[in-house]
Order: sequence, then C-alpha cells, then structure tokens
Amino acid sequence: MSTEPTQSGVFARQPEGTCYRVLMWEACALSEEQIKAWASHRADLLARMRDAGIKGSRGILGKLATELQALTTELIETPLQHAPRAGFCVARAEALVACLREDANALAYRLGAAYAEVLVQLTGGEGVDAMIARWQSATEGMEWCNAPIVQAMSAAEATEWQQSIGNPAEAAEQEAEQAAAAQPFHHVTVLAAEAVEALQPAEGKVLVDATLGGGGHTERMLMAGAEVWGIDQDPAARAAARNRLAPFADRLHIVAGNFRNAVELLRQQGVEQVDGLLADIGISSPQVDNAERGFSFLSEGPLDMRMNPAAPRSAADIINTAAESEIADILWQYGEERASRAIARRIVQERAKAPITTTTQLADIIASVLPRKGKQHPATRSFQALRIAVNDELGALDALLRSGLSLLKSGGRFAVITFHSLEDRAVKRYFEQVTKPEIDRPEWPAPRPNPDYAARAVYRKPLTPSAEELQANPRSRSAKLRVIEKL
Ligand SMILES: C[S@@+](CC[C@H](N)C(=O)[O-])C[C@H]1O[C@@H](n2cnc3c(N)ncnc32)[C@H](O)[C@@H]1O
Repeated sequence: MSTEPTQSGVFARQPEGTCYRVLMWEACALSEEQIKAWASHRADLLARMRDAGIKGSRGILGKLATELQALTTELIETPLQHAPRAGFCVARAEALVACLREDANALAYRLGAAYAEVLVQLTGGEGVDAMIARWQSATEGMEWCNAPIVQAMSAAEATEWQQSIGNPAEAAEQEAEQAAAAQPFHHVTVLAAEAVEALQPAEGKVLVDATLGGGGHTERMLMAGAEVWGIDQDPAARAAARNRLAPFADRLHIVAGNFRNAVELLRQQGVEQVDGLLADIGISSPQVDNAERGFSFLSEGPLDMRMNPAAPRSAADIINTAAESEIADILWQYGEERASRAIARRIVQERAKAPITTTTQLADIIASVLPRKGKQHPATRSFQALRIAVNDELGALDALLRSGLSLLKSGGRFAVITFHSLEDRAVKRYFEQVTKPEIDRPEWPAPRPNPDYAARAVYRKPLTPSAEELQANPRSRSAKLRVIEKL
C-alpha cells in the first residue's frame, strides 16, 4: 500500500517461513457497498484462480493474482488512504503499537488515519485471527471492520515489504530535526546541579536523560564523564541538543521517541540496564515561546500544542471534533477549571459557526465565558489542560514510572522533576509504592511484606529550587525533584 502513514515501524525481528500482512480498518472508513463490491469481484477472481491452479496454468494464475491485488488497491487500499480519522486517536494508535511491540510475532507496522497494516509471522500456537482479536482489544472502544484482509507472504516477500516501508517515521524525524536545527533554542535548566548530582555521574557510568530538551542536564552528566542516552520526542529539542553537545558526540546518543517507550527504544539500541534515569517532565521554554508551536494564548499561532509535531492529534483536532463532554472532562481533570462545562459548551457553539484554528481564537472564546480576574489570563488553566491531553502527558509519565526501575541496575537512581501537582502526585505515589518494605491495613493483624518494594528514597522530601534559582528563573517556581535508588 503506497500511502502516507501517520506512523510506522520495523521491529528488530527477521521474517522466517510464512508471514502474513494484515490490513484492518475502522468500520466507518469504508461503506458496506464498497466492501461488498470488492468481496464479490474477489470471490470471482479466487474461483478462477482455483481453476487455473487445478489446470496448472501458472501464467494465468499470475495474471489473476495481479488483478486481485489491483482490485484490492482500487476498492480498499486507495479509499482507506483518504478515509478521515474517526476513532483511531493517538491514544488508541499508541495502545496498538505498544501491544505489537510486546508481540514477538509482529515484524513491522504502518498506521494511517483510519487503518492499521501489520506484518506478522506465526511462531507459536496462536493463529492470525487470535492475534488480530488481541490487537483489537488493546484499542478499547474502537470499532474495527469485521473481516480484515490477511495476505500470506513468503519470508522474502515479507523482507521486501519491511524494506519498502523502510522507516518513514524515522526519515520524517530526521527531516524535521534538520529543519529545526536552524531555530534558536533557549531553555534554562531547572534544578540542574541537584538533579545531576542525584544521579552521581562519573566515567564508566551510563545514564538516560528521558527528556533531553536543550541538553542542559545532559551536558552536566557528560562533563562529569558519563555516557548518556538522551530521548526527546521534539525534533527541535534534539537538534538543539545535538548542536550544543557536539563536543561530546562520542558519549552522547540521541534517540527520537516518546519516553513512555523508553525500555523498547533503548532495547532497540542494545541497551538493557543503566546506572541512572532522569526525567524533567513537561515542556521546554522554546515550545511555549515559539508561537508556531501553538502552546501559548499570548501570541497568535496555529492551535497545535504537539511536542512531537508528527503526532496525529493536535489541540485543534480535539477542540473541533471531540464531544462537548470530552472537552469539559479534559478542562476539569487536567486544568481543574471550574467553568469547564460552560467553556466546552461555548466552544461547541463557536465551532458550529467556523472551525477554531488559532490560539488567540480559542483564548478569546474562553475569555468570553470567564472574565479576567486578577493577574492570571482566563485561558491559563484550559491551555494547560489541553496541552496535557494532546500529549497524553500523564499517561506517558505513568508508563515511564512503571517501566523506569526495570531499566536500572541495582544501586541505579531514578530522578524525576515535575512542574505541577498532577504530575508530582503521580511520582510521589509511585515512589511511595516501591519504597515501603511493608504495607499495613487496619483490617490486617500485622503489616505484610510489600510485593512492589524495590527501591529506597534518596531524599525524604522533594528538593525545590533555591531562592537564587527562583530569582534567576521564575519558571522554576513549581519544580519538585524526587529521587529513588533501586535496591
Ligand atoms: C523541561 S524540557 C527538558 C529540558 C532539559 N532537561 C534541559 O535542561 O534542557 C522537557 C523536554 O521533554 C520532552 N518531552 C516531554 N514529554 C516527553 C515524552 N513523553 N517523551 C519524550 N520527550 C518528552 C519535551 O519535548 C521537552 O523537550
């Protein structure tokens, strides 16, 4: 399928024996008539292929197979390339990819707005249908077509398919990074000394900076002699860090991706265990300050807010297509916005007149519901909430927390800097969960061993910026650093 995928990937697994290419799509992406037309032509072609097979007419068989592929391209694949996204949102796409990553049979995947193509091989007892059912159940709430197309391929054809998709996502990442390299990038690192010292960087140590940003923390780790794997989903950040840290290129490895997949991203590079892991959660200053990124209500820009510009769902997608109740829930849950329902109602009224496409348009709509009180702009909480939703920031943090310790050697440290209470609560709870040797409940006669006990707290209370840092960088005011050490 020669398509512009929204995402694709090749896992480091070699095709062997018979492989299968599975094409499945959102039920609403193709009409019943389209599918019926394809199915009836296909049945006819398959019957003729059977006859040709019985007669041993290899030439005719080949011609019919080509005709069948052309039919599928015309009636299924091409319309799917133009089908708009309905339920295949970023969270479901990521859930599917996470499931495929875990699946030792999946070799490669390519996702469009309304379809998924997966290359698999059968190595265990599980059949293709069971696998498809498992992937589909990972994308909870999504309505898939009843009968996906499953096409058998030899190992050689599968290798060719893998090569043909190459890794457009990687190519696009590189292109975006090159384009971003020319942009100025200014981010003042928060809790720089405290966070890096907590990881005890030294020659011979391998550390992960899961939020590379402009490379401020990483630079200190490198200066102390460590080798660093820096992850960031923003090409502008990766370009800035690559530039700034060029003198350390032999000990710095920059990885494009979401830290929710840190374990898999590093495993793909042959890295299983490291001495320390840092995450400086949230956005960088250039993301907010560059109007084109669409994070700020203070300057006019496209309503975007994606840290990864290739991610499928922007803030404008949410604002213009999500149900009123979903918008209200986002504003309430992630922004604690008390006027969430009134704002969502007004958004839905306004978008019925014309799409809401810019940051200032949205800010004005919010201000029309919620007059300014005090210093804070009325759109502050809503913009924060939308940003968290667009980038699924809490979901990514949760995934990193749950997988981070598995990346560490015994004695390795895990440090997280957060900037608002929702994030800090998640870190505090998780760190408490893994640092208590025992759990006690009122209904138990005595405390019991904690099955999650795996680390010790390095500091009893979170570290916060010093008075000097607060004065020099007011954006650091809500920062909290928590650190644990693997037992
Ligand atoms: C606060 S900045 C980090 C700044 C960096 N520590 C420095 O000193 O320059 C956060 C960075 O993390 C990145 N980021 C946020 N969430 C991410 C995620 N889930 N996966 C990968 N990168 C993420 C952002 O793109 C941003 O560049």
